[in-house]
Amino acid sequence: MSVQSITPSQLDDRLAEHIAERYRDPNSVRALSQHFRREGYVKLTGLVPEDLFRQVSDEVYSLIDLHARRIDLLMKETGSSPRYMSTVSQKSIAEDGHLIPAVYQSEVLTGFLSQVAAQPVVECPWEDEKYVIIRQHKKGDTHGWHWGDFSFTVIWIIEAPALEYGGMLQCVPHTDWDKENPRVHEYLVNHPIKTYAHQTGDLYFLRSDTTLHRTVPLNEEKTRIILNTCWGSESDRLKTQTHETMEAMFS
Ligand SMILES: [Fe+2]
Repeated sequence: MSVQSITPSQLDDRLAEHIAERYRDPNSVRALSQHFRREGYVKLTGLVPEDLFRQVSDEVYSLIDLHARRIDLLMKETGSSPRYMSTVSQKSIAEDGHLIPAVYQSEVLTGFLSQVAAQPVVECPWEDEKYVIIRQHKKGDTHGWHWGDFSFTVIWIIEAPALEYGGMLQCVPHTDWDKENPRVHEYLVNHPIKTYAHQTGDLYFLRSDTTLHRTVPLNEEKTRIILNTCWGSESDRLKTQTHETMEAMFS
């Protein structure tokens, strides 16, 4: 069966079978959950079948061809950290994508992520942040230090440069975003920074609202492409949230 023509319930069945097999040891899922809660980050490579990942990648590349928009910004809400990249908005993906919106809706996927998060992972309350694409490809391109507006993010590494060229993820978990006074440099000075390398085909789960994070700037003209899929927590549903950084990057 081609993944492109898959119905939502077929996709859920496929993912259910795959996840049950891949994570059949409950102790390994508990270990992932503990790692996630301790570090604000856990690698979930193999979360989806390889052919599904490949089809998602194909869709990402064609959406970039159709819709990528260059931005070069400094965001005051995150201590004037830079955003040097091209982006594809949720609206464009919803309009011209098929598989990404379908995967996003999968209850099997959110069910598993809820196990790892040790709390319910629910649909993102703000439509525009559900899924976006980011491409970095120029020397100096970076997604500077920031937090997310919502709790849970899965990053799909569609293309990663070799380690020597940068693009790694850096994290400072258990930090809070005060948009009036983000104190980014204070957090960097006072807490350890963890750095994670990724390869094409990797997936990771990030506690995006309380993990200060960035990507290391590219030191050559090399390409890093991600699909960012975002969900909320129960408490995110009750919060009044503003979206300055997302609006600047993806409008
Ligand atoms: Fe982020």
